[in-house]
Amino acid sequence: MIKKGIILAGGMGTRMSPLTKAVNKQLLPIYDKPLIFYPLSILMLAKIKDILIIVNKGQLEQYKKIIPDGKKLGIKINYLEQDKPRGLPDAFILGQNFIKKDNVAMILGDNFFYGQSLSKMLNICTKIKNGAKVVLHKVINPEKFGVAKVKNNKISIIKEKPKKFVSNLAITGLYFFDNKVIKYAKELKPSKRNELEIVDLLNKYRKRNKLSAEYIGRGGAWLDTGSIEDFYKTSNFVSAIENQQGFKIACLEEISLNNNWIKKKQVIESIKFYGNCEYSKYLEKIIS
Ligand code: TTP
Repeated sequence: MIKKGIILAGGMGTRMSPLTKAVNKQLLPIYDKPLIFYPLSILMLAKIKDILIIVNKGQLEQYKKIIPDGKKLGIKINYLEQDKPRGLPDAFILGQNFIKKDNVAMILGDNFFYGQSLSKMLNICTKIKNGAKVVLHKVINPEKFGVAKVKNNKISIIKEKPKKFVSNLAITGLYFFDNKVIKYAKELKPSKRNELEIVDLLNKYRKRNKLSAEYIGRGGAWLDTGSIEDFYKTSNFVSAIENQQGFKIACLEEISLNNNWIKKKQVIESIKFYGNCEYSKYLEKIIS
């Protein structure tokens, strides 16, 4: 079972400037909570309790104001700073002392996942012992994504933003790796844009026939919140679901309670911490 997870929550957020000039993208609101809650909730749904959040240099204190440590959630939160965006595989070089000899999951701080069989899928993903796994989602504009072609449940081709059609299955920002990921990440050379590329890292596994996939089907949603348009689209999606059903998406305390990681007492502490707000009212409702 994979028990450790990394959230890559740095980046420049260039596409969302000027919003991201003073505040990191992952601290901006997706409807009623900061974006970072959503990828964190996914790791927690995957039953991962030991979490490393990688943030930009100089922004650690801001993150700690929202998620000081994991105690109230019954989890362990570690932080590390990245001095500049060196690319997604840098997470495994920076995080090697956190990963140690274990396998590890990684989620991008700006990725949103939702769907009925998500927990079931996550449960399958965290079972990998050898190799790597990506999560794929069908899209209508594959030229904008990294895509994967699958043959006999193994990935045969990966291509970043293909000009010619290869596949309509986009590689989402959620990955599961065996411990070789540290070694492979260190072997990578920066690309033309001077970053380590996730596609190059995944190709190391693909070439060895060690890259497999799980899927988010048509009942699920994956949204990359990188542009302003996508950001608001995701916010509207959360608002529509929450106000229709009365359930919250990515209520961290609710997930911890369901996982039996915390008791009512810690939820009461969280209510005090958040103060008088809608989120606290929801927490009161779930413990009453
Ligand atoms: P990107 O979308 O590639 O970058 P960004 O969020 O800075 O946005 P922009 O392209 O508008 O400048 O990154 C995806 C996620 O990964 C995002 O949550 C930021 C994070 N990230 C890091 O934390 N470190 C990195 O080195 C890179 C490349 C990304």
